[in-house]
Amino acid sequence: MDFTPRIYFYSAQKYDKAFFEQANAAYGFDLAFTESPLNADTARLAEGAEVICAFVNDTLDADCLRALAAAGVRTVALRCAGFNHVDLPEAKRLGLAVVSVPAYSPEAVAEHTLALILTLNRNTHRAYVRVREGDFNLKGLLGFNLNGRTVGLIGTGRIGVATARVLSGLGVELLGYDVHENPDFKALGGQYVGLDDLYARSDIISLHCPLTESNHYMINAESIARMRDGVMLVNTSRGGLIDTEAVIAALKSKKVGHLALDVYEQESDVFFRDLSDEILADDNLSRLLTFPNVLITGHQGFFTHEAMTQIAEITLRNVAAVSQSETCNNELTRRL
Ligand code: NAI
Repeated sequence: MDFTPRIYFYSAQKYDKAFFEQANAAYGFDLAFTESPLNADTARLAEGAEVICAFVNDTLDADCLRALAAAGVRTVALRCAGFNHVDLPEAKRLGLAVVSVPAYSPEAVAEHTLALILTLNRNTHRAYVRVREGDFNLKGLLGFNLNGRTVGLIGTGRIGVATARVLSGLGVELLGYDVHENPDFKALGGQYVGLDDLYARSDIISLHCPLTESNHYMINAESIARMRDGVMLVNTSRGGLIDTEAVIAALKSKKVGHLALDVYEQESDVFFRDLSDEILADDNLSRLLTFPNVLITGHQGFFTHEAMTQIAEITLRNVAAVSQSETCNNELTRRL
């Protein structure tokens, strides 16, 4: 390498620093970290860095990308799979290379999905709190067997298939809907059906597709009406797939029997922060937190030792390839 690029990390937590410094032993990049999220106002902090590294809730709109380019940034390295938060055409126009980590331990998110399903299904979240208070009563903890139930997966890519694999040991019927069929899903005994069929037959529906312009709010009042009464909805994909107000109405009417969210449409104002001393300003999130049959985690599906190690290694490998003008398969701006 002719020079050592400086990489400026936004939204960086202590654990990001630890995993990236470990992976950087093989590269020797100049790493700098800030907890500040990235947006048009904070972009100038990257002055002097050729590369910035951003996370899922950073705002990489046209204004931000222009400010980054003006600050001398040449490469945007996303340390996540999703890129719905990046204005890619604008990045391309500005000559910025945008790289991402399309695949890292899909099992991490699949196993978290299974944990959410099994927790909600057996009310373990309520039992945990109750038993610690010395209350050993079972009232309200009645669950149902997963064996014999039907699970519908929307999106059968890497995470969808990994989820099908962990679920396949539980004796469930697996239905799938995807815009492209994946033979790995069929090999696990999964059956592709239309969305209407999946909605009508599934006891549990789990989302594993990316958020795009065409599927924003795909789970809305109209689609929920087509689902089974008491359906369990699980979203570990992207918050914008669900119309939160519609799902709150369906929880109140008991049409939706259980809801598990690892992602939330307004999560960027809340997730990855300690707000325990503050008043929660988000009324929809506050309402969701009052339901006994709703389980929310703060976008932690990816958060395992294995996934973090892979994210750090792949991100730095991407930066090395782009800096050395090598072909980088993870460069999103090349595909436009
Ligand atoms: P992938 O690209 O391997 O699979 C996505 C699948 O969705 C593909 O098979 C694709 O054909 C399908 N798809 C695209 N549009 C669709 C639509 N409108 N309806 C149905 N299917 C559609 O992606 P992967 O790795 O499985 O990730 C899936 C999503 O999981 C990501 O887009 C991201 O939003 C989310 N994710 C969440 C994490 C977390 O920590 N909770 C971590 C990583 C990813």
